[in-house]
Amino acid sequence: MADYSVTPWEVKGDVDYDRLVRDFGTSYIDQSLMNRVEKHTGKPHFMLKRKVFFSHRDFNWILDKYEKDEKFFLYTGRGPSGDTHLGHLLPWIFTQYLQEKFGVELYFQITDDEKYMHDRSLTRKQVSDFSYENILDIIALGFDPDKTFIFKNTEYIKTMYKISTDIAKHVTFSTAKSIFGFQNSSNIGMIFFPSLQAATCFLPSELKGKNIPCLIPAAIDQDDYWRGIAREIAPKLGYYKPAQIHSKFLPALQRGEKMSASKPNTAIFTTDEPEVAEKKIKSAFTGGRDTVEEHRKHGGNPDIDSAFQYLYMILEEDDKKIEEIERDYRAGNLLSGELKQIAAEKIKIFLKEHQRKRESAKKTFDKFILRD
Ligand code: TRP
Repeated sequence: MADYSVTPWEVKGDVDYDRLVRDFGTSYIDQSLMNRVEKHTGKPHFMLKRKVFFSHRDFNWILDKYEKDEKFFLYTGRGPSGDTHLGHLLPWIFTQYLQEKFGVELYFQITDDEKYMHDRSLTRKQVSDFSYENILDIIALGFDPDKTFIFKNTEYIKTMYKISTDIAKHVTFSTAKSIFGFQNSSNIGMIFFPSLQAATCFLPSELKGKNIPCLIPAAIDQDDYWRGIAREIAPKLGYYKPAQIHSKFLPALQRGEKMSASKPNTAIFTTDEPEVAEKKIKSAFTGGRDTVEEHRKHGGNPDIDSAFQYLYMILEEDDKKIEEIERDYRAGNLLSGELKQIAAEKIKIFLKEHQRKRESAKKTFDKFILRD
């Protein structure tokens, strides 16, 4: 038994990404695929080079189509169960890059229905407030207002319902149970819900009356929906199977967890005062040694160091700088406190800028919302 788990509702332990690639039957993003992306985007995004986005399904096919002038659309989403943290931003930043470089549309699903039904303690009001706050963070990342369509399931259900029922009709309870682990105690809303998350894969095709390839950039914990439902049902309904590109999880401030909105001390939130974020980073799990002497002698371990991982996975775009930091840390020249200081400065700058953009997102909010 693995000592970790990756499901749409729980990620814990030290995730074995190679094993997920095998179990889920996905492919690694290799050099030849990166070269191919480079042809269209210029220098590939650092998240590709550093294997933060590390796995895919049919991304080659998406590029085949694109090269034959058949544009794809992007699809990703957010379950509004809490405030936005750095870990959420990671795939969204990459999605924004894809949108910009390929000039494609993005459909962004807010699953307010899912989170309301999944978590008994969440009220309608809370989910609605989180939806609004989360959407501000999405808009703040610089998506194109003319090509970005954000919708909440509870609002946009009139359009979504038909596609969802087309899907649901083909999924038995026993299939849903084996994919998602539903039980007799699960509420019936959650049992239907996967058909809504899958439906967005076909939404633009439905809206435009022709098949449009779908590429989903998202953390790999959402794969059950695509592998288990959307890709199985697509041929039955005459749609293309959606393609995926998968990211890893940003580690929590403490060891062995991903950032989780329901556990405030595991995460740096987009609305944290920069000084609060600095304090959090300073108390984060370190790959440094117990004493300065030992650290100088044996060096630190950046692979398990949260501050280093934030720089590597999301904050430090400059390859030269990150290589230098990594080398110095491993060699013991850079102390854990010094590394944390570098990360703290980066985070403070990032948050100040993000919070400014988040404020102005309030003015452009309506331009991004898709309504039926
Ligand atoms: N279920 C996702 C969550 O809990 C939200 C979501 C909906 C999503 N559609 C998606 C995430 C597509 C990634 C890609 O956050």
